[in-house]
Parts: sequence; C-alpha cells; structure tokens
Amino acid sequence: MINPIYSPAADRYENGMKYRRCGRSGILLPEISLGLWHNFGDVNTLANSMEMAHYAFDNGIVHFDLANNYGPSYGSAEETFGIIMKKSFLPYRDELFISSKAGYDMWPGPYGNWGSRKYLMASLDQSLKRMNLDYVDLFYSHRYDPETPLEETLQALVDIVRQGKALYVGISRWPKEAAQTAYEYLAAHDVPCLIYQGKYNIFDREPEEEGILKHAKENGAGFIGFSPLAQGLLTDRYLNGIPAGSRIAHNTSLSKDELTEKRIAQISKLDEMAKKRGQTLAEMALSWILKDDFVTSVIVGASSVAQLQKNLKAIHGPAFTPEELAEIDRIVL
Ligand SMILES: NC(=O)c1ccc[n+]([C@@H]2O[C@H](COP(=O)([O-])OP(=O)(O)OC[C@H]3O[C@@H](n4cnc5c(N)ncnc54)[C@H](OP(=O)(O)O)[C@@H]3O)[C@@H](O)[C@H]2O)c1
Repeated sequence: MINPIYSPAADRYENGMKYRRCGRSGILLPEISLGLWHNFGDVNTLANSMEMAHYAFDNGIVHFDLANNYGPSYGSAEETFGIIMKKSFLPYRDELFISSKAGYDMWPGPYGNWGSRKYLMASLDQSLKRMNLDYVDLFYSHRYDPETPLEETLQALVDIVRQGKALYVGISRWPKEAAQTAYEYLAAHDVPCLIYQGKYNIFDREPEEEGILKHAKENGAGFIGFSPLAQGLLTDRYLNGIPAGSRIAHNTSLSKDELTEKRIAQISKLDEMAKKRGQTLAEMALSWILKDDFVTSVIVGASSVAQLQKNLKAIHGPAFTPEELAEIDRIVL
C-alpha cells in the first residue's frame, strides 16, 4: 500500500508548545527543539525517523537541529531529513527553522574538518543537497578551531549569509573569549550571531559556571542547550540496568563507564524527587533547564515518539521552589 500524503495537525500551534525569543532577534524558537544526532541515520528505520519528525511538527516543534556528520554514517541524518523534507515537509518549509553545522571530522584530507573557509563553504553546499534545501535557517561553526584565524571562520559565516545559503549564523562550543570575538566580528559585519549552542543539563553546568549563558544574553544572542538529558542518563532509562537498544548498549557516544555507582545513586534520588513533583525524571531535567530565562530552547534527542511525547510535558511542569533547586544541587554537586 502507498503511504498517505502527510498532512500536519491543524492544531499544531495550539497543542501547548511555547516559543521564546532568541536573543535580540526576530526569531522565536520552540522551548523544545528536536536534534537529529542519533536515530536518523542510515542504520535506523526511515519509518521511525519520519514518525518522530511528523510528531514533532504536529506538536509545534518547528526547529530541527542537524549537522553534516550526524548519522551514522556521516551525512545520513541530513539525507534522511532530505527524504522527510521531500515527502512531507516541503509545503511547510516556511514554518520550519532548520539548522546545520560544520566543524568536526567529515571527509578525509585536510579540507574536511575544523574551521577553514574551504571546509565550511563546501560542507554547507553538501548539506543543502542532502537535505533538499535551498538554504538553512541557521548555520553553525560546530566548534572553535584554535589553528584557523577566527576572522577566516567568521568571515566565511558572514559570506554564507550574503550568498543566501543561511539566514542566520551561530557558534557551538566556542570558549568564552573566542565567543566574544565572534559576537563582535559578526555584529560589525551586520550578521549578528543569532545563538550559542552548548551542552547544558543538571549534571553538566559549564555554560552557567563559565558565564556563557549571561555572556550570550549580554551580546544579544540566544542560548540553546544540547544533551539536556545527558544522553539519557537523566531519565529512567538506566535505573534498572542497560536496556537493549539504548544509547549505552550501542556504545557510540555514551559509554557504560558513565554509569558509576555514584551516578546511579544520583539518578535514583533525582527520580524520587521528580515523582514528588508529579513529573518523570526526564520532564524534571528539561524543566530544570527551561526555568532559566537565559535559555531560548533545549534540543532533545529521542529514539521513539513515546519519548518525545513524554518530554513535551516538561513545558508545563511546575515551577521549582528554592528548596527543590537546592536539593538538586545537593544531589549532584
Ligand atoms: N553542538 C554540539 O556539539 C552537539 C553535541 C551533541 C548534541 N547536539 C544536538 O543536541 C541534540 C540532542 O542531544 P542528545 O541526543 O544527546 O540529547 P538528550 O536529550 O540528552 O538524549 C537523548 C537520548 O535520551 C534518551 N531519552 C530521551 N527521552 C527519553 C525519555 N523520555 N525516557 C527515556 N529515555 C529518553 C534516548 O536514548 P535512547 O536512544 O537510549 O532511547 C535519546 O536518544 C542532538 O540531536 C544534536 O542536535 C549538539
């Protein structure tokens, strides 16, 4: 049987999603965005990837976060998204905010990694082809390159916008000092940095501790947090061992060495706390990030629609009392 043509939920903007302004810009982003790092590669089933993308859009998740090397294999998450674009999302392109990045290892040789103009320009051209897009809404330098002059990387971002291949640019995982140069350079060239992307969750507080959150805001940029569930550790996934099919079982980006006794004890305590708040641990972990008005959005990953469905509830979670916040700190710090 032929699959019916996708038709998005008519109430997709009345389904409870909330949107926040991204720094000093015209852009609003959903509080929860969907990341395609895992579970959209050519090792995954297209049907599941499609179902998750459809569910996301049906529920007001209009921001999809990609990068050149998401998969595995490299490039295949963008290819999967390209299929979804062609089959489902093309009529809704103007409702979507799609990002990609370059900065990590992508192809062999000296031009397939880091921050040269040569790499960024070529990579974005490849990404657009894979995703069946004329432009991305947001293009990131995926990481700081200590060897390439920052001006070269930043000018490439400016020129990418001038060429119409991206509407906005952002930086991911740049140290604070280099981020300052980026904010200043990009603003001076009339392509202000839209957003800073960094890892942020209950266990990993670097953006707060290093002042990255405050710094982004002062410079008119938004902040979007990745791995908000610590790749699944901040959920009930590993409370009773390592389930088959889980990210630790796959042993790609999350190792079982992370699951120390101390960590498991912390997760159990956080899980109990979440229950007292009437939330799952995953919901509480997301609400914890969203409590902060320095944060524009969190990018969740998911391996099923059921996970995504649960995670969306975080948007309507109860506010934290000062005692609850102190208790979380006591458990993990
Ligand atoms: N800029 C960067 O350098 C960078 C780096 C990493 C990620 N990112 C972006 O951030 C996105 C999210 O990162 P992430 O995938 O690490 O995020 P995450 O939300 O911390 O982890 C997602 C994983 O947690 C588990 N999970 C999610 N919801 C669950 C639930 N309700 N119950 C139980 N388990 C649940 C699933 O693991 P299972 O697979 O085990 O089911 C899922 O694959 C990426 O897709 C990417 O777009 C950016």
